[in-house]
Amino acid sequence: FKVPAVSNEPMRSYAPGSEERRALQVAIAQMEKELPFEVPCVVNGKTVKTGKLAKQPMPHDHAKHLCTYHEADQATVSSAIEGALAAKADWEAMPWNDRAAIFLKAANLVSGKYRYKLMAATILGQGKNAWQAEIDAAAELTDFLRFGVKYVEELYAQQPSQNTPGCWNRVEYRALEGFVFAISPFNFTAIGAPALVGNTVVWKPSPAATYSNYIVHQIFLEAGIPPGVIQFIPGPAEEVVAQVLGNPNFAALHFTGSTFVFKKLWKDIAANLDKYKGYPRIVGETGGKNFHIIHPSAEIKNAVMQTIRGAFEYQGQKCSALSRLYVASSIWNSGFKDQLLEETAKLKVGSPMEFTNFIGPVIGRPAFDKITGYIKKAKESGGEILIGGTADDSVGYYVQPTVILSKDPKSVTMVEEIFGPVLTVYVYEDADFEKTLELIDTSSPYALTGSIFSQDRKALLLATNTLRNSAGNVYYNEKCTGAVVGQQPFGGARASGTNDKAGSMSIFYRFVSARSIKENF
Ligand code: SER
Repeated sequence: FKVPAVSNEPMRSYAPGSEERRALQVAIAQMEKELPFEVPCVVNGKTVKTGKLAKQPMPHDHAKHLCTYHEADQATVSSAIEGALAAKADWEAMPWNDRAAIFLKAANLVSGKYRYKLMAATILGQGKNAWQAEIDAAAELTDFLRFGVKYVEELYAQQPSQNTPGCWNRVEYRALEGFVFAISPFNFTAIGAPALVGNTVVWKPSPAATYSNYIVHQIFLEAGIPPGVIQFIPGPAEEVVAQVLGNPNFAALHFTGSTFVFKKLWKDIAANLDKYKGYPRIVGETGGKNFHIIHPSAEIKNAVMQTIRGAFEYQGQKCSALSRLYVASSIWNSGFKDQLLEETAKLKVGSPMEFTNFIGPVIGRPAFDKITGYIKKAKESGGEILIGGTADDSVGYYVQPTVILSKDPKSVTMVEEIFGPVLTVYVYEDADFEKTLELIDTSSPYALTGSIFSQDRKALLLATNTLRNSAGNVYYNEKCTGAVVGQQPFGGARASGTNDKAGSMSIFYRFVSARSIKENF
């Protein structure tokens, strides 16, 4: 058995008049006709309607909701855990080629039959425009599934290189003992890694992505994943978390979300440690305060365009999104500032269904309040709003793309994560490039992504060395978002996570427990 060669799912253009644009519009219109949907929990392949109802509002039109979902109650969480434990032995024992085939089939369903349905759910439910939905719901999810199979095959092939005469050494990559708890975010869909290596998973999706994540779960079932291998339990976070982490068979956490929540989970796990059979694996991809630094040698037009895309695509709601910009004063004054403001002024804000809109709504009420709160704080603390700064939540949660000029490199919006379309700029004296690198390194607790713009190799190297621990993903002359599976393994350290690199083989090591077997003949 050899996994077929994998390559990245090609991105479609959605150009005016294109077949894919038409197909996506049909899928959206169909979904709009049918909504709101009812989403149950799914335990052991069966729907469970707890009657504890919650709603997923649509960010572009919050009076309406995309789905009503059944939150998991205590009995449902219990049966999800029991079912996951019961499904484990057969799933792990299933020949690798059969497990792989299920994931490859799921990838084909995502990229083919369900592409537009998934994208429509992401556009309506999570406020992405077509291109952003294409990146996440179509291309990246497909890549995670296909490349995951390739990486696991490579992982299983990692074997000891030495065998003395009459002896055969081998390593078996067992699934973890117990079950894995996955908590996924609203902005990207990275689910599947633990199950691929033979674990069974209790999955709590983000409430703001319930419907699109339910479709993903249905796809897994259609692809042939046995009932019980991935349990779908949207639920009230705190109760579900307390119950799951209190279970002695909890073996690993696969988390993407905020630093605050991740730290809390880590402490909760520590508090329960004596209950567990082993030391749980804790994998987390959390916050960021990602930077661009523009050196005096940078090419201005490219730096401006990459800055706008890094800061404002998907309304700045990517953990990788740019939010602090350090620009050399010679560059700032010789066109960068003017071009940045001119180009930002052209960005259209509005419904994510409208193909001419670059900026859609932010995800929900708490996000809207947090982002506008930061804009207010910036104004109060002496920040100058160069463009944007306004917001309108009358129909949807819209925040204008905002650029703040800060004289203080440690001002609140230069340092704290905002997770919205807000970029804070600090202009440094050209001679202070090195000092500014130190500042970038020391002024934020995060270390996820960062970009260096320069035409001078020496400056690139100096920055790369000085910022050694400041970002898990570094880009030269390109925006700090948009890591591609199989090309740029993704993840950060410090307060940004455990840096286990999604989209690479590294993450799979965290969800297996190796066993060495020595055999003498
Ligand atoms: N992987 C995404 C990016 O690089 C963020 O999750 O933008």
